Order: sequence, then C-alpha cells, then structure tokens
Amino acid sequence: MGLHNGAKLNLTKADKEIFVLDYPPKQFMLSSLPSPIVDWIEDHGFDFITVSDRQGKIIYISSSIEKVLGYHTEELVGEEVLSYFSPNDRDDFLTIFDPKATYRQRFSLHIRNAIGKYIWVDAVISTIVIKDKEDYFFIALSKDITDKKEAEEMLIRSEKMSVAGQLAAGVAHEIRNPLTSLKGFVDLLQAGMDRKDEYYKIMVEEIDKIESISSELLFISKPLTDNRSDQLVYDMLEDVLTLMNTQAKTYNIQLNLQIEENLTVYCDRSQMKQVFINLIKNAIEEMKDGGVITINVRSNGNRCVIAVIDEGPGIPEHLIHKVKEPFFTTKKEGTGLGLMITNKIISNHQGELVIRRNEVKGSTFEVRLPLVAKITDYHHGQT
Ligand SMILES: Nc1ncnc2c1ncn2[C@@H]1O[C@H](COP(=O)(O)OP(=O)(O)OP(=O)(O)O)[C@@H](O)[C@H]1O
Ligand SMILES: [Mg+2]
Repeated sequence: MGLHNGAKLNLTKADKEIFVLDYPPKQFMLSSLPSPIVDWIEDHGFDFITVSDRQGKIIYISSSIEKVLGYHTEELVGEEVLSYFSPNDRDDFLTIFDPKATYRQRFSLHIRNAIGKYIWVDAVISTIVIKDKEDYFFIALSKDITDKKEAEEMLIRSEKMSVAGQLAAGVAHEIRNPLTSLKGFVDLLQAGMDRKDEYYKIMVEEIDKIESISSELLFISKPLTDNRSDQLVYDMLEDVLTLMNTQAKTYNIQLNLQIEENLTVYCDRSQMKQVFINLIKNAIEEMKDGGVITINVRSNGNRCVIAVIDEGPGIPEHLIHKVKEPFFTTKKEGTGLGLMITNKIISNHQGELVIRRNEVKGSTFEVRLPLVAKITDYHHGQT
C-alpha cells in the first residue's frame, strides 16, 4: 500500500494485538472466524451494531460504541433506543418507521453522545422475526456521518447563495415597476390631488409587492434549517412563484399553477422551497423563447406528486441519469449543483425525483413525497 506524497501514517500501538491460532481457518469468512478476532472487529469497527426488542429496549450494543459515542456498553443495555434520538428525529422516526417491514429501512438521525452532543448517524435497520412466535427484534447498523453531513450542508449553503445571486438581477428589475408607480403617486399627492384614500390603497399594495418579493429573496439567502412540520404544498408554491415570476417575466414565460388537490407534506419549508426554485429556474433557463411552465399538484396513492412541466427542447434520454450528478452542467454560468441538491433534499424527505422527456416537447421533473395523512394512519396502526 503506497502512502500519498508526504502523507503521515498515524500508528497507534495497542498492548496486545496479535492473534495465535492452532491452525489456519479453511476459509477466511466472517462467520467462521475465531471469537477473539470477531471481538477485535467489534471493538475496532467504525460502525456500531444495536439489537433492540420490540419495545425499543437495547438488548445488545457493540463495544465500538465506546469509540463512536463515548458510552460504555453496560450503560446502554436495557435503555430505550429512542431516548438517545433528538426530539425532532424521534417524532420523524415514529412517523416513518415500519416495525413490520420486510425490507431494510435507512435513516439519518441525530444521536446524543456521552457528552450530550448530537451526532449525525446513518442507520440501516432490519426486523428479526421469531418464527411461529408473535415476537420480533430490530437489528441496526449505524455509523457516524457528521463529516459528510457538514460537507453536504456547506454545499447546500453555497448553492443557496449562488441561486440568490442569480435571481437578484430579476428581482431588482421587478421591484423597479412598483417603485416607479409609488413615485408617481407621491408626486400626485404632493400636488395636492383628491382621492387620497384610493391612492393610499394602491400605494400600500405596491409596497406589499416589493416587500414580499424581497423577503422571498432574503429567505433563500438565510442559513440552512431542518425544522420539519406539516406544510401546505400550495402555500410553499405561492411563495416560490412570487420570486420566480420575476425571472419568468424577463423571458416572457407564464407560470401556470394547477392545484388538483390541496395537499400537505411533512417537510422543512425552506428546503422544499429551494427544491421548487431550482426546478422552476431550470425550466425557465430552457425556455429563452418564452412559453408556459405548468406546475401541477396531485396525489397518487400515498404520494404527493408535484410536476414541473416545461416547453423547452426536452432533456436528452442519455442525460437523464447524469443530471443529478454534482457539477454536471451544460450551461456557461451553471454550477451543476442545482439538481444534485434538489435530489438530495427530496431523498432526505423520503421522496424521489423522477425526470422524463415529454412526448411532444419539453421535460417533466416530478417530485414525489410521502403524504402526511397516509403516514399518520400508518403510525396509529402500529401502536
Ligand atoms: N428542465 C430541463 N430541461 C432540459 N435540461 C435540463 C432541465 N433541467 C436541467 N437540465 C439539464 O441538467 C443540467 C444540470 O442541472 P442543474 O440544475 O443541476 O445545474 P445547472 O442548472 O446547469 O446549474 P445551476 O443550477 O447551478 O444554475 C443542466 O445544465 C441541463 O443540461
Ligand atoms: Mg439549475
């Protein structure tokens, strides 16, 4: 194994880390390794394994937990797994987790370590069913992903700032119209015109317009949050359209919002708005000759489907699987992070982003998210 130029090798010596076997194993398979070696793996793993009973009480936790979270295994056995989750994650987890699932379930969670700090952890959980008995257990394999999350958050923050920068010109332009009309009314009032009440009403409306557009722009420049709650899809789209209309007008594009059903999803409002901004921004950028972008909201089974349908040249089939990759862009000014981050936010919300080329013209970007009502039913069903 070669070391990279100048990299330092950190060597830590333990007291006794040599194994003596009477004879070599037939095969080096994990399940057939002698127990001292399995213990060694358990101690030094970067992941930790948890087995809990159906009530969520810890029955077993691997000794690597000492290194990852700083607890001793004895402190944890018999404790409730959920009591180590951050309160927000506990609620999310209970909403989404299906104890009887026949597939493995993945979660990103904040887990409290021994000094009370919350650590980002990725966990894969499977159910162990005891045959012919009404009993089951859970096994989870988890790892600390704090570094990865921090890098991801930095990327999202920088993309937010880049989007805010790109939208600023359109916003400034759009604010100029109400400002001009305000100036006109001030002149009229100064000249001592009648119908003052009528003018004041229009002036307040114009000021409201400026206020809502600029606060939407400020909204994207704010730091990343992850406060999830039930959000009306219509409400979030209305906010987004306030901002995106400023861009659409520049290219003679009409944004057409079709709400087939008034749906609610459980999400972080600012992250989900960023998803819609990115998709509508992409659609606008493909339609320099104008046209209509349709944003359609409907349900399909237990999913909320938000489709952004453009009339651009359509995404080439061979690029569909590439566009979610970081830094893939066909634009001179693009960062190629928009769809990667959009996709990331959606999958963090247990959803998916489906992309297709339309038959006649343009492309459709479909955001599919779990619907609140259906998930809540599920949860009540299990308790
Ligand atoms: N609606 C669309 N129609 C056709 N192609 C699209 C559409 N949206 C995205 N693409 C393609 O996917 C690429 C990646 O999009 P993404 O949003 O990730 O980055 P970008 O738009 O190029 O840059 P940025 O989002 O940073 O401004 C685009 O460069 C474009 O080629
Ligand atoms: Mg983009």
